[in-house]
Amino acid sequence: MSKVFASLGMSLDGFIAGPNSRPDNPLGDGGMRIHEWAVGVESWRARQGIDGGQTNQDDDIVQENFSRAGAYIMGRHMFAEGEVGWPDPPPFRAPVFVLTHIPRQPWVRQGGTTFTFVTEGVDSALAQARQAAGDKDVQISGGADTVRQFIDAGLLDELQIHLAPVVLGSGVRLFDGVSPALELVPTRVVDSAQVTHLTYRVASFQVTAGDLTSLHDTAAS
Ligand SMILES: NC(=O)c1ccc[n+]([C@@H]2O[C@H](COP(=O)([O-])OP(=O)(O)OC[C@H]3O[C@@H](n4cnc5c(N)ncnc54)[C@H](OP(=O)(O)O)[C@@H]3O)[C@@H](O)[C@H]2O)c1
Repeated sequence: MSKVFASLGMSLDGFIAGPNSRPDNPLGDGGMRIHEWAVGVESWRARQGIDGGQTNQDDDIVQENFSRAGAYIMGRHMFAEGEVGWPDPPPFRAPVFVLTHIPRQPWVRQGGTTFTFVTEGVDSALAQARQAAGDKDVQISGGADTVRQFIDAGLLDELQIHLAPVVLGSGVRLFDGVSPALELVPTRVVDSAQVTHLTYRVASFQVTAGDLTSLHDTAAS
């Protein structure tokens, strides 16, 4: 069965975006520093329509994720920041499902990317994304609110953190409010000059506060 994974850049002090993130300030104050490593690699640049870039182990990881993702899910905040900045074709080249409370007609872009707005919650978004992805994996693109909902619902199989040697001091934290019963098993570490790529299998989770029952074990997957 295909996997559900998230892949997020993070500052050393745990932020995935700086403060004051909004469409005219994507990733918030200083937040782009988290992604500096990615901006320099060939496969990221190619998806943005920019020539050149390095081919190294960071590039391999970006390429690997683009290759495995057959559909994406994101929250409306992330979408609102990208809507004004992504090129056409956008970098996804696959269907994208946007969680929102605001109904909207699908937004069709070039290169296989159609943004579909889902108002029925994470289960509906995942069902649609799985169907669209076929044999490929589903990537939960972010932001924090969206990834946390997939963790809390026990729907995330794999979490990648790309840890940048950057301190932001404030902003959007990924793990705020996530149960300490979340059990992450390290499966890969790739270390490069600008970033440390950490991959975890999500082994178990807690459904409600105080309920320590482990319901989810992907060990067999
Ligand atoms: N470092 C990284 O790798 C990375 C990756 C992705 C994003 N980011 C950053 O993360 C920040 C955004 O994160 P965020 O946590 O603020 O927001 P988010 O997860 O992108 O979006 C949250 C919003 O999505 C909608 N939503 C989420 N779940 C929903 C549900 N179940 N049903 C209906 N609507 C739902 C709601 O918007 P409405 O109610 O308004 O519709 C909610 O306020 C941005 O700055 C972005 O640049 C960083």
